[in-house]
Amino acid sequence: MQIFGVDIGGSGIKGAPVDLDKGDLAQERHKVLTPHPATPDGVADGVKQVVDHFGWTGPVGVTFPGVVTDGATIRTAANVDDSWIDTDARLLLGERLGGLPVTVVNDADAAGVAEMHFGAGRGRRGTVILLTFGTGIGSAVFVDGVLLPNTELGHLELDGHDAEKRASSKAREDHDMSWEHWAAHRVRTYLAHVEMLFSPELFIIGGGVSRKSHKFLPHIEGIKAEIVPAQLQNNAGIVGAAMRAAGR
Ligand code: BGC
Repeated sequence: MQIFGVDIGGSGIKGAPVDLDKGDLAQERHKVLTPHPATPDGVADGVKQVVDHFGWTGPVGVTFPGVVTDGATIRTAANVDDSWIDTDARLLLGERLGGLPVTVVNDADAAGVAEMHFGAGRGRRGTVILLTFGTGIGSAVFVDGVLLPNTELGHLELDGHDAEKRASSKAREDHDMSWEHWAAHRVRTYLAHVEMLFSPELFIIGGGVSRKSHKFLPHIEGIKAEIVPAQLQNNAGIVGAAMRAAGR
């Protein structure tokens, strides 16, 4: 069975039909640049371009980088335009896509669902936390495979700051930090804080950095939980969005 997945990110809007039996893209993904400012109207146009590229006419799952309730309503917009707040994204995107059924889900929750089913979290019980390090920090918390949605652990307070401003991948780039310094100080302090709160068995590190895990994982010391990179890497959001749209 195939469902279309779209991942709305800070720099790109990416999508492809997803093979839900394999947990993989059925075709090479298509990407357009995220407009700036990332307003509902501009982003909806981008989503339409991606879906139209494949001539897709079935259900569509879409990730969003903020709190999403009931598969539809946007509640926060830390790294996209504020005018998203209280937008019914299911309605907006459904109309823009000519009436296709749309489900919207937080980006990290989508990535987490995909990793738990097809990737690094497969078969893992207990508390598992996926954290995505990108423009912001996204989180997906699972207990015995069940998701607690919209946990927003990227906005915990860390040393008096919003944690994602200190420890995201963007923070590393903005402050010109080496991988080692970022991992040994910023990421380690952040993981220690999350571990103090939740005592997970496993941390899965996702987002664009998961491809470069050899550069930073060895420098994160003193964390009791196992720490592994995400396996679906940058496609986890697309796959998870499609899974949510299929009701999984
Ligand atoms: C948002 C989260 C999102 C994360 C990653 C944060 O700023 O608040 O909802 O999952 O960025 O995109």
